[in-house]
Amino acid sequence: MTDTHLELQGGTKRFGATVALSDVDLVVRRGSVHALVGENGAGKSTLGKVVAGVHTLDAGQLLVEGRPVELRSPRQALGLGLTIIAQELSLVPERSVVENVFLGLEDHSGPWVRRSAIRRRFDELVRSSGIAVPADALVSSLTVGQQQKVEILRALARRAQVVVMDEPTARLGAGETEALRSTVRRLAAAGTTVVFVSHFLDEVLSLADTITVMRDGRVVRTGPASAEDHRSLIEGMTGRTMDASFPDRLPAPADAREVLRVEGLSRRGSFEDVSFSVRAGEVVALAGLVGAGRSEVVRALYGADRADAGTVTLDGRVLRAKNPAQAIARGISMIPESRKDQGLLMGRSVRENVSLPFLRGLSRGGLVQRGQERRQTGQLARDVGVKTASSESPVLALSGGNQQKVLFARSLMRTPSLLIADEPTRGVDVGAKRTIYDLIADLAAQGVAVLMVSSELEEVLGLAHRVLVMRGGRLVSELAGDAATEDSIMAAAFGTRTASAAVPESRGEH
Ligand SMILES: Nc1ncnc2c1ncn2[C@@H]1O[C@H](COP(=O)(O)OP(=O)(O)OP(=O)(O)O)[C@@H](O)[C@H]1O
Ligand SMILES: [Mg+2]
Repeated sequence: MTDTHLELQGGTKRFGATVALSDVDLVVRRGSVHALVGENGAGKSTLGKVVAGVHTLDAGQLLVEGRPVELRSPRQALGLGLTIIAQELSLVPERSVVENVFLGLEDHSGPWVRRSAIRRRFDELVRSSGIAVPADALVSSLTVGQQQKVEILRALARRAQVVVMDEPTARLGAGETEALRSTVRRLAAAGTTVVFVSHFLDEVLSLADTITVMRDGRVVRTGPASAEDHRSLIEGMTGRTMDASFPDRLPAPADAREVLRVEGLSRRGSFEDVSFSVRAGEVVALAGLVGAGRSEVVRALYGADRADAGTVTLDGRVLRAKNPAQAIARGISMIPESRKDQGLLMGRSVRENVSLPFLRGLSRGGLVQRGQERRQTGQLARDVGVKTASSESPVLALSGGNQQKVLFARSLMRTPSLLIADEPTRGVDVGAKRTIYDLIADLAAQGVAVLMVSSELEEVLGLAHRVLVMRGGRLVSELAGDAATEDSIMAAAFGTRTASAAVPESRGEH
């Protein structure tokens, strides 16, 4: 008996002129956690989708338990025990957890017993996997972490033996991330093979048995995780040595003009009596746990949600943005939390997505100056390192991290008074992270006020002049200079004196 579960021989996949996978050889052992790492656009998601039958190979072959298979659809792949939990979740929001878990699975026991039978299977699944989610809750009411669990239950309900997880922790906070990691370990211990894609190299190093490093659609090497470290992985991914540290932080001039002032801002059920200010040239971070209200506060600032009480002043004038367009008109740029739901028009081109909110500014006599638009958007896309065949490619043809960079390019279309960045580097590779950090530091140096939300404490500490910690919808602490440490932030976020014992890794809750 061989313990090779999955094998790819000479796997090649093209999208038009783009070679997403080039002659890829890969062996994945049964019951292993096999990580794929690589820069944005390296081909990780494409490989995962080939395994799950979403994409068909142009050349080469896939073998399952030594037998060549030709996958024509995800359904067929599932029949062979292969499935993927994609980078963007694919649940039906207005259905319950149970319905989502068993969606599309036929049950032939007739209309009457069906409900209870399905419920029994659900309970059994929860028991055997140790993954608990409220059965009757609507998926739309769940946190992202819970939704991720629903996706895993769904894969298990289909008796998946190979589960590809594409950046499953990119949208999770520390607690949920740790829970997901134990789930992965449990699955592997029970013989399920997990192909794990992540940009968090520490996570990859601690979780994976085997790591495959990819670059430009090729496999650089595959080997035991114990033979790699941070440095070797970055070197393999990028072909150069690099430390992904942070740009120098200019001291925020204490007497700089106040760009943003928030006073007594409240929104029922989300946050209450929030007051703070951000000066020109200052980077202020909002930190806190899941549901602490950070994203809700920034959404209210840029007009995506309405506040019930309080005032917002921008550049000395009261701001009452009823929608993001009005906030943009007043000089706010933002990178929203969810690129798909709030940010990008997936079917439109990179150029259109970058310039869309600014078309009026690019118009003369009602006509958009296309030449100028092209030049400007093209330059910005290059500045932030968007990897795409052309600015005319639809955003859906870009890798996940490159989609995030498009949002960043958009926020730079005009130098704003205030940049609001909600998870600016989510899903972005180590090299591109540094580029984004440099751009944020540059903007601050030019006098832009920056308000950021980030679940990566390292990022918060590396970039921010001041950290505002939220807990339960309220601002509970302000930390600056040496007072801002991982421990002090987490202690404030949890409401304990010292929280280091409660936080296993360096990432904060989202
Ligand atoms: N549906 C598609 N149509 C056209 N091109 C695509 C499509 N999907 C992926 N590509 C291209 O294939 C290449 C590999 O993309 P892939 O999504 O596999 O990268 P990735 O390693 O997952 O990156 P990331 O870390 O950003 O998620 C990229 O150049 C991307 O633009
Ligand atoms: Mg991807």
